[in-house]
Amino acid sequence: MPKRSNEHVGPDDRFFRQLVGSMRNGVIAIHRDGSLALMNDEAYRIFTLPRHADDTGRPFTDVFRTRPDLVRVLSGAFELTTLPNRAELRLKDLDRVIGYTLSLVKDDDGEAIGAVLFFKDLTRVEQLEERERLRDRLASLGEMAAGIAHELKNPLAGIEVMAGLLRRQVPDSPDAQSLLADIMGEAKLANSIVVEMLEFVRPIRLQLEDTDVSDVLRQAMSLAERKAARGDITVRVSIQPELPLIEGDHNQLCQVFMNLLTNAFEALDGRGSISLTAVSQSIEPDPASAGGDSSTAVVVDVCDDGPGVADGLSDRIFNPFFTTKPTGTGLGLPIVRKIVDAHDGRIDLTSQPGTGTRFRVTLPVVSGSHWFR
Ligand SMILES: Nc1ncnc2c1ncn2[C@@H]1O[C@H](COP(=O)(O)OP(=O)(O)O)[C@@H](O)[C@H]1O
Ligand SMILES: [Mg+2]
Repeated sequence: MPKRSNEHVGPDDRFFRQLVGSMRNGVIAIHRDGSLALMNDEAYRIFTLPRHADDTGRPFTDVFRTRPDLVRVLSGAFELTTLPNRAELRLKDLDRVIGYTLSLVKDDDGEAIGAVLFFKDLTRVEQLEERERLRDRLASLGEMAAGIAHELKNPLAGIEVMAGLLRRQVPDSPDAQSLLADIMGEAKLANSIVVEMLEFVRPIRLQLEDTDVSDVLRQAMSLAERKAARGDITVRVSIQPELPLIEGDHNQLCQVFMNLLTNAFEALDGRGSISLTAVSQSIEPDPASAGGDSSTAVVVDVCDDGPGVADGLSDRIFNPFFTTKPTGTGLGLPIVRKIVDAHDGRIDLTSQPGTGTRFRVTLPVVSGSHWFR
């Protein structure tokens, strides 16, 4: 058996140990006889092993008892003809990926007296790459969805128009009339799904301007009243005088409140009351944004005294295509969230079955991160 060389500790040896200790890569070295020659701090960290004073000198199979993948790699060192270079090892139990290179340590005669494993924790890199891949996939999915939606709009409009024409040709057949009315209704619904889907998948671009939230709310209210049946619903609007202008996109904010108000109308089903209030409020300043006004926000509450959102559903109603309505698209709230997020705002739901629903939208007067969009 070759003589162990780690018993001699000279000045160079100490330098070497310091060097290995301060490396940002993991290093593990073993002797030909299978004893551990060296293992640096980073190696202990990556493999989440506690350091014991007597680890060096013990059989590596013993020290790495709980890390069978590592034992397998090291065991191959003196058996394989070509050693792995820049290989990857997935440590399932630690949920980690490491990239490693295994090399032999040879003496002056070319005899292998040990092996050394250099490695790096790739988990973070992997995660970033995965996120990048996901983003690409979503972007192309969105593009595809937008393409399909666009293509569907024309044939759907065609169906609706032609069904209308046909209806005029069969004035005396109530059965045909009702079937054609159904066809038109379905085509209209399909069209609204397509329009909302386009809205949802389209990447958001804000046209920022000084925006008067009270104008936005008035316009949203009249749009929502046109979309949903008002019936006997009472509407109370209370907007604080001299609300500060906010940096926002007038049209997109209109969409936000139109969607929320439409949902309120639909929840009430022709009876009940809606209140719409807007006030300015100071909020926790965002440390990332500069500027004196950044700590003021406009807070808008859209409340209704309808049936409320069932307990288990409050997390799901913002998911795309989640709907409890027979003719719903489930895209109203996801669009709301997307636009509010783009304004650096937030939306909160308070709801109890039986007492009604409140959606609170908080919009900062000056949004912090739009410079990066
Ligand atoms: N004001 C509200 N009261 C009760 N439930 C609501 C209210 N607003 C939204 N919801 C619930 O959230 C779901 C998703 O809403 P939304 O995304 O606008 O899609 P849709 O209106 O097409 O169903 C609705 O189907 C409904 O169950
Ligand atoms: Mg809706």
